[in-house]
Amino acid sequence: MAMANGVESSSTEELLDAQAHVWNHVFNYINSMSLKCAIQLGIPDAIHKHGKPMTLSQLADALPINGAKSDSLRRLMRILVHSKFFNKVKDEEEAYCLTRASRLLLRDEPLSMATFAVSMTDPIFVDPFHHVNEWFGDEHPSPFLTKNGKTIWEYGGIEQSWNQQFNEAMACDARLVTSVLVQECKQVFEGLETMVDVGGGTGTVAKGVAAAFPALKCIVLDLPHVVAGLEESENLSYVGGDMFEFIPHTDAVFLKWILHDWDDEECVKILKKCKEAITSKTTKNGGKVIIVDMVVDDEREEHEATETQLCFDMLMMALATGKERTEKQWEKLFFSAGFGKYKITTHVLGLRSLIEVFP
Ligand SMILES: C[S@@+](CC[C@H](N)C(=O)[O-])C[C@H]1O[C@@H](n2cnc3c(N)ncnc32)[C@H](O)[C@@H]1O
Repeated sequence: MAMANGVESSSTEELLDAQAHVWNHVFNYINSMSLKCAIQLGIPDAIHKHGKPMTLSQLADALPINGAKSDSLRRLMRILVHSKFFNKVKDEEEAYCLTRASRLLLRDEPLSMATFAVSMTDPIFVDPFHHVNEWFGDEHPSPFLTKNGKTIWEYGGIEQSWNQQFNEAMACDARLVTSVLVQECKQVFEGLETMVDVGGGTGTVAKGVAAAFPALKCIVLDLPHVVAGLEESENLSYVGGDMFEFIPHTDAVFLKWILHDWDDEECVKILKKCKEAITSKTTKNGGKVIIVDMVVDDEREEHEATETQLCFDMLMMALATGKERTEKQWEKLFFSAGFGKYKITTHVLGLRSLIEVFP
């Protein structure tokens, strides 16, 4: 069938497939918003508390909703079953149970991602995407700045409740990553006497590493408004400062979800400061920078994994000046900052990699 502008001729089936593809992408945000609503209503917690598959009427009774809206609840559950956050089982009556993904959304689950998910779908993160086209034409370094007139880090210094919410969202992710790091990647930390977690937020990774390696002294360096008033321990302390200015001397610098926030020039500056901080360290296994970030693999076969990495890349573009990098791009950064070699370990941290960089 000829299209109106005559550019391409396609069969009716192809034309309708193309329309469905457009619809699918136009309405993709509804998946995110449905998930956010489920967490806010406490649906995963209600099903978990029930202890067995929960029927729609049981779920409606357990939630803080208007009883007249139970058919709307059924529709919300239908899309979430489709997106694999719940399973529907049928005994006498149809009932819902949790999947591995919704278990991660339980509020009391130690590795819960509930706060991360709600925080990342907050208007403050979503709104900059409404300004990307405007940003392409202006002088600002990020759509976040186009929208808010300040960088995301300046915003955190002014909006205290948002700062707290953001730090808690980061801590959610850090708990999960730390649990994997101290179980599966022990060798990376063994033998170190000191480590500085640069941009370490409220210290979730450092606390976990300090507990797993009591002989290792961990310092968290972050912006003063992030680390103010946090409780220290025998082998954990906090420094409020600016990583572009100074990083304390240490055996190893740890950088998780830091370099992807910044452009290449800024990353080289941070990495040069890291190099100064680790130089002259001779401890066995010391003298390195440990990075947890994505290594984008354009050739990757798995569609969902690539899509998630590309979404993160767009997120970094919208919120900050950063990007997700391929191995070639990482290598260029390391060598530009004066490092001599690096080792990338993939598949141990899911979509992210563990990168060790040596002078
Ligand atoms: C994406 S968060 C990552 C937090 C933590 N590393 C994690 O993965 O859970 C980036 C962190 O960098 C910190 N940060 C931003 N600019 C900084 C600067 N100039 N000096 C030190 N920390 C900074 C932020 O406050 C924030 O805690």
